[in-house]
Amino acid sequence: MIDFDQVVDALRAAGEPTRLRLLMLLGHAELTVSELVYIVKQSQPRISRHLKLLADAGLIERNREGAWVFYRAQESGPIAQLKDTVTSMALARTPATDRDLERLEDVRSQRRQQAQSYFAANAAEWNRLRSLHTDDADVEAAMLALLKGRTFKEHLDIGTGTGRVLELLAPFCERGLGIDMSGEMLGVARARLSEAGLRRTQVRLADLFSLPVADETCDLVTVHQVLHYLDDPARALSEAARALAPGGLLLIADFAPHMIESLRTDHQHRRLGFDAAEVEGWLMACGLTLSAQRDLPAGRPDGLTVSLWLASTPERALRRRPIKVVT
Ligand SMILES: C[S@@+](CC[C@H](N)C(=O)[O-])C[C@H]1O[C@@H](n2cnc3c(N)ncnc32)[C@H](O)[C@@H]1O
Repeated sequence: MIDFDQVVDALRAAGEPTRLRLLMLLGHAELTVSELVYIVKQSQPRISRHLKLLADAGLIERNREGAWVFYRAQESGPIAQLKDTVTSMALARTPATDRDLERLEDVRSQRRQQAQSYFAANAAEWNRLRSLHTDDADVEAAMLALLKGRTFKEHLDIGTGTGRVLELLAPFCERGLGIDMSGEMLGVARARLSEAGLRRTQVRLADLFSLPVADETCDLVTVHQVLHYLDDPARALSEAARALAPGGLLLIADFAPHMIESLRTDHQHRRLGFDAAEVEGWLMACGLTLSAQRDLPAGRPDGLTVSLWLASTPERALRRRPIKVVT
């Protein structure tokens, strides 16, 4: 239940053209103030003032992570319902909201290009880089332990990079598909998978926000060290959940929260790790149930803790359809 004054405050906060635009934008993506300044074309102090009013009214959340602050629309609770109603009523397009969405796409495409050039430049070296901060063998052993030797028909590895997770899990999977947006990474993955003789494992160039697979066709989906590069990890998980068959498993590996700001500048990380509860909230929002969570602290003081999350979709009769690549 929400009290009368809170409703009035929320309506007042949303009832101003720039704030309504900000609210709509933050419903599409998690954004920083400077990205909002670029999109809305108003000064930083003005945008910050509007954001404060929206946050005070509970319509948006503010999340400081190192030197960056991310804003996103409130996702749950009565104020979120009110926000959804207000923004859906304002969906009628106007020149200003059309321009906002175009500039939001600019921001996203700039980020994609930066990430793509980083991965293109590091493809050959990736297997060395991926073990810089933590002991890969421990992470892989923990992933296998969580899957308990279960076997799978269709494995989808999202953001597969050089295909290491496909290779690791190939003995337990009838077929494997890795997707990645970097042609260079996939070049290394193809060479590696063919060298390992894994003929039932393939890779495809694709965006993880629009997976090239039909609904409910994979009984195992993995997302290993990918979420921290993304502007909208929750949306990526919801797209992953779409691909999961009833009774299927989603296994995520990523960093626990940390303060190593240089990973942003030197390695294109967007998020400095994830709090266990934040990821659990995203999983619940896509209808998944968390069945296990593990933290694997690095064995040295400058190392990063890797966290694992294993979630499942509700059991229904498992539909046995072969994985379908949509072209
Ligand atoms: C840190 S690498 C991890 C690769 C692999 N999972 C591993 O652990 O070795 C992150 C991968 O995510 C991919 N990636 C990032 N954003 C993506 C997107 N929007 N769609 C598809 N792949 C993406 C990058 O190209 C990169 O190969």
